[in-house]
Amino acid sequence: MNYDASFWDDRYAVDHFVFGTEPNVFLAEHSHLLAGPVLSISEGEGRNAVFLASRGLDVLGVDLSAVALEKARNLAQSRGVKIRTECADLATYEPNAGRYGAVVSIFAHLPLVIRGRLYPLLERSLVPGGILLMESYSEKQLARDTGGPKNTEWLMTVEKIQREFPGMDPILLREVEREVREGTGHTGMASVIQFIGRKRTRESSEL
Ligand SMILES: C[S@@+](CC[C@H](N)C(=O)[O-])C[C@H]1O[C@@H](n2cnc3c(N)ncnc32)[C@H](O)[C@@H]1O
Repeated sequence: MNYDASFWDDRYAVDHFVFGTEPNVFLAEHSHLLAGPVLSISEGEGRNAVFLASRGLDVLGVDLSAVALEKARNLAQSRGVKIRTECADLATYEPNAGRYGAVVSIFAHLPLVIRGRLYPLLERSLVPGGILLMESYSEKQLARDTGGPKNTEWLMTVEKIQREFPGMDPILLREVEREVREGTGHTGMASVIQFIGRKRTRESSEL
C-alpha cells in the first residue's frame, strides 16, 4: 500500500473529521509536561495542535496532506486559537535544530527508511530537557482491525523506541491495550506504544 499525499488527501476529503476534533487521550493526559514551541508531526486535521494552542502553546503542525491542514486551520479558527501549519513530507523535512520545547507524534506511522533519517533530527530539534511525546500503534495491532497500517515495519515496539531514540531518557515507555475512540479512523480496542522521553542534557549524559 502506498500512503502518499494523494492517499491522505482523498481520505481527508470528506465533511467530517476522520480522527475527530477532540485531542488524542494520551496527549491530553500528559500535556502538562509540554513546553512550547511544539512541533507536531503528522498533525492531520488539527485536533492535537488546536488542543495544545488552547492551552497557550505555540504549535507548528506538519503534515503532507494539504487537505488535512486546511481542515486544521479551519478548526483552529472555529475554536478561536492560532496554529501554524506546514505542508511537508517527513521523508525530507528538516526541523530547526535546538528550537522546540516539545515534539508530538500521534499515530504518525512511518517506514523505517523515513524514521531512520527523521528521528535523529527530531531529537536534534529539541532544546536540552525538551520532551518527545508519542503514541503509535504497536506491532500487535496488526492482528486487529481497529486502525493503523497493515505493515509490521511501520508499527512500533518498546525495543524500536529504545533503539531509535538513543538521546532520550524515557519518562514513560510502555505497551498497552486501550480502547481508542478517536474519530471514525481509529475506533475500538487497540495495542499501542506510549512514549514520553526527555532529551538528555549535557549534565545528565555525564552522570
Ligand atoms: C493516522 S493519521 C494521524 C493524524 C493525526 N496525528 C491524528 O492523530 O489525528 C497519519 C497522518 O500522517 C500523515 N503523513 C503520513 N505520511 C507522512 C509523511 N511522509 N510526511 C508527513 N505527513 C505524513 C498523513 O497525512 C496523516 O495526516
